[in-house]
Amino acid sequence: MTNILCPHQIKYLESLRTEVDPLLKEMEDFALERKIPILNWKAAELLEQIIAMIRPKRVLEIGTAIAYSSIRIARKLKKKGIIDTIEKSLDNISLASEYIKRAELEKQINLIEGDAKEIMPLLEKKYDLIFIDADKEDYEKLFYYSLMLLKKGGVLFVDNLLWHGYPAAAKVPPSYKNSTKYIREFNKLFLSQTALKTSILPVGDGVGLGVKV
Ligand SMILES: C[S@@+](CC[C@H](N)C(=O)[O-])C[C@H]1O[C@@H](n2cnc3c(N)ncnc32)[C@H](O)[C@@H]1O
Repeated sequence: MTNILCPHQIKYLESLRTEVDPLLKEMEDFALERKIPILNWKAAELLEQIIAMIRPKRVLEIGTAIAYSSIRIARKLKKKGIIDTIEKSLDNISLASEYIKRAELEKQINLIEGDAKEIMPLLEKKYDLIFIDADKEDYEKLFYYSLMLLKKGGVLFVDNLLWHGYPAAAKVPPSYKNSTKYIREFNKLFLSQTALKTSILPVGDGVGLGVKV
């Protein structure tokens, strides 16, 4: 079980895909080849739609990887919009820097090196949009820090809340047991928050959407 939609539905959506940007395509192929997880393209389109709707000036991303989603976000921001993106893997930071340079987005994308659990408490300015896409055992802490850093009316976008279908499955492979446990616990926490209006959408690998009330 690796996808939350039926294969024929995925195939159909793929057949309708109009995205042809060469850099993004190269990054998707590179990530697949190197087994680096990046945001599913349908979830990335949803994120871009949200950006078009709320027009954020300041975005925070937790988990840059090779900067695929950072580049997609930055390209949709207004002229003065910025994205701060936090990444702890040195290998990924160097790959991300290269791609950000190639996309000519060094001014819009501020790549912050380190563990978000240590960096987020040091951030002072609030954000219009926060995107969590990091290690699943960190989600709870990252969520609480995000609540503090999100402006009123701001949007929280969390990836992988249906985690390859495993949270809803009776049997989970041993290598996914821990991460699935964290996601199951996180989903309960996320949906029971009163500070946010939340929902989980079956897009990509399952997207959590929250609006700070
Ligand atoms: C799923 S990938 C991010 C994909 C990226 N958002 C995209 O769609 O292109 C997760 C990344 O988060 C990083 N990461 C995980 N936990 C982190 C943490 N606590 N602080 C900073 N980076 C973290 C990992 O090293 C990995 O590169």
